[in-house]
Amino acid sequence: MPDADSAKRPKEFYEDVPMETPGFFLKGSGALGWGMKNRLARIFSPESGRTVMMAIDHGYFQGPTTGLERIDLSIVPLMPYADALMLTRGILRTTVPPSLTKPIVMRASGGPSILKELSNEELAVDIEDAIRMNVAAVTCQVFIGGEHETQTVHNMTRLVDMGTRYGIPTLAVTAVGREIARDARYLRLACRICAELGANFVKTYYCPEGFGTVTASCPVPIVMAGGKKMPEPDALEMAYNAVQQGAAGVDMGRNIFQSEDPEAMIQAVRKVVHENMKPQEAYELYQTLKHEKS
Ligand code: R5P
Repeated sequence: MPDADSAKRPKEFYEDVPMETPGFFLKGSGALGWGMKNRLARIFSPESGRTVMMAIDHGYFQGPTTGLERIDLSIVPLMPYADALMLTRGILRTTVPPSLTKPIVMRASGGPSILKELSNEELAVDIEDAIRMNVAAVTCQVFIGGEHETQTVHNMTRLVDMGTRYGIPTLAVTAVGREIARDARYLRLACRICAELGANFVKTYYCPEGFGTVTASCPVPIVMAGGKKMPEPDALEMAYNAVQQGAAGVDMGRNIFQSEDPEAMIQAVRKVVHENMKPQEAYELYQTLKHEKS
């Protein structure tokens, strides 16, 4: 479906040859200006080249979803463990202490709720307001193959243009409609379109087959979305596989804040992402941290 070319030659992604990154530690970012690079270096660790972003923006279309009913009580205490926070301006201004200096990746799109067609989004934050909130990056969904595909791509390119004017990177989130298979062919298509059209980094789902081709064919860093809650060992294994196959970290929501012990889980995820800890060892760490409390 997604590959429109009919070439007989098999595709070659050279997954074992990392793209060179002259001028900056992050893939595809060497030609960016100082402000862009500085903001990206706040999100991604210059030591590991990776990030553990915590996504808590789900309320922008889902309302008070499980785990996010009271962000002040359940999520604010977790914030020190995250490298960056992905959230809405409403939650930032009402609930996040301004003394928190973690980089903010601001959800800048919205419109439909879960009751409507989700791809019918518009940009929902003005770049001047993003600057007032001192954000490190802005982000919106891109629904490749969705009903409002072009509209969401246009949202992203406008965000890229506005962000570039002020040195603020754009994260494109590849949102996959229910009817679309999350396989490597689709994810390659979606991620590459976002990068080609200017996204500075891309968030996408993990796929068990061929995820390395998704990261290899995307010329900017990819962060892995967590997706639906799964057992902790499975989530840790998925994060491990993603970074081993070229992801520059994770942007996890439900698999952290819906965990039985979110504080232990985010610490275990950090070990996997920044220190290449094996999933089994990370799960043992999770259990130890969890039991220490009880
Ligand atoms: C969904 O549209 C939001 O962008 C979430 O931030 C994203 O899906 C990541 O959260 P999760 O890890 O729960 O999938």
